Amino acid sequence: MKPRKGIILAGGSGTRLYPITLGLSKQLLPVYDKPMIFYPISTLMLAGIREIAVITTPHDQAQFQSVLKDGSQWGVSFEWIVQDQPEGLAQAYILARDFLAGAPSALILGDNIFFGHGLTELLKQASASARNTIFGYQVRNPECYGVAGFAPDGSVSSIVEKPKSPASNLAITGLYFLDESAPDLADQVEPSARGELEITTLLEMYLKMGQLAVEKLGRGFAWLDTGTHASLLDAGNFVRTLEDRQGLQTGCLEEIAFHQGWIDAAHLRDRARLFAKNDYGLYLQRVLLDAATNEFNLDTKAEIDARARRLAV
Ligand code: DAU
Repeated sequence: MKPRKGIILAGGSGTRLYPITLGLSKQLLPVYDKPMIFYPISTLMLAGIREIAVITTPHDQAQFQSVLKDGSQWGVSFEWIVQDQPEGLAQAYILARDFLAGAPSALILGDNIFFGHGLTELLKQASASARNTIFGYQVRNPECYGVAGFAPDGSVSSIVEKPKSPASNLAITGLYFLDESAPDLADQVEPSARGELEITTLLEMYLKMGQLAVEKLGRGFAWLDTGTHASLLDAGNFVRTLEDRQGLQTGCLEEIAFHQGWIDAAHLRDRARLFAKNDYGLYLQRVLLDAATNEFNLDTKAEIDARARRLAV
């Protein structure tokens, strides 16, 4: 199997979030302390994926490039692809055919945020496996998503886009690990009644061939929605609550790259200096310090301070 490549679909018109998306792409809006797209990038990076295509509208591309650069600051590479019209998620595979060049892929929607204990392991397994894997998540409002239907034996028998009468509460999340045949299958997808190449039609093709595994993300995971003004704010508050409580960042791309061994300490230090004036930069300094403390078995600053206090008594 060729190394898996990543695709982030970050196009679309963002009309549901007007007026805030009138001049800025939805996926560049802040989710607390980072642009939204950082979170799906972090998901791909945690899966071990370094070659990533970013699909945007023609007019938003320059803005994405000024935020994400070429990716080397995070040890990854970005290739840029334009989607002229939002003609459906399955079109991503057609547009990315040359980029993929026969490699399997992980497609993630630029507005999908995942969080949970064991997520990294799950992502690594899905990425390393030759199986086609998608993820289901129980939601209160399944009619807003692609929804799984089940056969009597408990296996998934259908995936329907925004059904009026959902067969279950299991929504299909916007993260798809598919094999190298995805572009060819996407070519066969007919536009739906709303004129889009639906991802669910493509997924049903895999399902009918018996080649799709649906993994359920349990209630310990968070899969956050950013589709409305209220859910966007909720997502930001969720990230803030976690970061505040734990003192750990969610979706910190420098930290992930450093722990993956894709950037070295000198590079991380440069990034910390770039953000020296805020909490993000301070956090990167802490990541560096923690790494040095572990590597050289050094005492932490807190331990040294505590000893100094004891000596002073
Ligand atoms: O978030 C998971 C859901 O995403 C799935 O459960 C659904 O099966 C899937 O169709 C999709 O539903 P949405 O209603 O969220 O799709 P939406 O049209 O909002 O597009 C999702 C993101 O992809 C959005 O940020 C815009 C972007 N997009 C969308 C389309 C249709 C594109 O970049 N290009 C497109 O052509």
